[in-house]
Order: sequence, then structure tokens, then C-alpha cells
Amino acid sequence: MSILAYRSLTPLFDELHDDRIIVRPYRKSDAQALFDAVNESREHLRPWLPFADKHQTIEETLNWINVVRARWVMREDINLSIWERESGRFLGGTGLHPRTWEIGYFEIGYWLSASAEGHGYLSAGLKLLIEFAFTSLKVQRLEIRCDARNVRSASVAHRLGFTQEGHLRHDGSTPDGSLRNTLIFGLLAEEYASTSKIAR
Ligand SMILES: CC(C)(COP(=O)(O)OP(=O)(O)OC[C@H]1O[C@@H](n2cnc3c(N)ncnc32)[C@H](O)[C@@H]1OP(=O)(O)O)[C@@H](O)C(=O)NCCC(=O)NCCS
Repeated sequence: MSILAYRSLTPLFDELHDDRIIVRPYRKSDAQALFDAVNESREHLRPWLPFADKHQTIEETLNWINVVRARWVMREDINLSIWERESGRFLGGTGLHPRTWEIGYFEIGYWLSASAEGHGYLSAGLKLLIEFAFTSLKVQRLEIRCDARNVRSASVAHRLGFTQEGHLRHDGSTPDGSLRNTLIFGLLAEEYASTSKIAR
């Protein structure tokens, strides 16, 4: 990954898309759609993501969008929204979260609204994001971490060609306060370059 003297000049994108979905940075006008999606999906998100209980008011959501837009501009974090192309429906969120920006090591996070689960939208969005990360951003390593009980999340990692590298025991707590185990998956630039490994 080439390191620019000024990180805020790192080229990103306005949107990524395929025939079904669009992946793009958040806009202020997304607040209602994001708020509604979280509000409708709290039970679905709560076992896995602490933010299930965020976005309690539209003002909180607007503030969150302002924060992630500022972090996008400064290239401190890359938060993205996923939309159904045909209907314009908000589907969920993803992101490339830097662990070590300088060496191109990012963690991918993701969620779908409850009604968007089970249609392949997330895997489609991540394919676009992973392609951008390796071919344009020139990252070296992408990582996915999930609760060991989160079968759907682990399936996403397997489906996209990640290798399970670790199974940490009692390394954190779940949103309900119990101890959790964490699976760690990695995908390297040279593996991505090998088309036999990744279903593209
Ligand atoms: C993790 C999560 C994003 C996965 O969602 P998902 O819908 O299973 O993933 P995808 O969108 O890639 O869809 C894949 C599923 O759609 C099915 N599918 C249906 N139509 C499809 C199509 N046209 N193309 C591809 N897949 C399709 C696939 O068979 C697969 O289902 P299966 O796993 O039962 O075989 C979702 O479960 C979620 O939001 N969970 C709560 C938040 C969370 O856990 N986040 C991750 C924290 S680490």
C-alpha cells in the first residue's frame, strides 16, 4: 500500500455498484433510512453488535452520520451504506476499519437490516469492497472477526474466501454481558490475486 504524505488525499470512491446493490459513503439525507433500519432490527442485531441500542433518536443518527462523514474526509475510518439499486431501499452497513493503515491492514465490519437478510446482499457488497481494497487501496490484509456463535457472519467470511486463523476464548463480552469467544478470519493480497481461491 502506498503511503501518501497526506492521508486525507488517499483516493476513495463516490460509489461501488453491481447490478443489484450500491455501496457508498453516508449522506446526511440517509438519516431517516438508517434510523428506521436500526429501529426495526434491534432484536436481530443485539446479540452481535453493541450499536443495536444506539440510534435512539433521529438526532443521534444525524450526529453519527456527521461523525463518520468527518472521519471519511480525514481517512480515519471508512463507513459505508448498502442500498438496493432498483428500489433505493437501505439494506445495511459495512466498513473498512483501519487496524494499521500504514501497512494496509483493515478489519471489515457489516450488518444488514432484519428484512434484508438471506438475499446475498451483504456478500455482494463485500465483494465490491474487497475488490476496491486490494486493487485500488492496495491493502495487504483484510480481517473479519465475529462471535464464534455467529454462524451467519462466519459463513460470510468463508463464502468470500477468508481463512480462519484464530479462535480466541473469552476475549471479550457479548452485548448481554456474558463472556464470548471470537473467530478471526484473514484474507491476504496474494490470496486475492489467486482467482482460484476467491469466488469472484
Ligand atoms: C451477518 C449478516 C450480515 C449475514 O447476512 P446474510 O444475509 O446471511 O448474508 P448475505 O447477504 O451474503 O446472504 C447470504 C444468504 O442469502 C442467500 N441468498 C438468497 N438469494 C441469494 C442471491 N441471489 N445471491 C446470493 N445469495 C443469496 C444465500 O443462500 C445465503 O443464505 P444461507 O447462508 O442460508 O445459505 C446478517 O446475518 C446480520 O446482519 N446479522 C446481524 C449483525 C451481525 O451479526 N453482523 C456481523 C457481526 S461480526
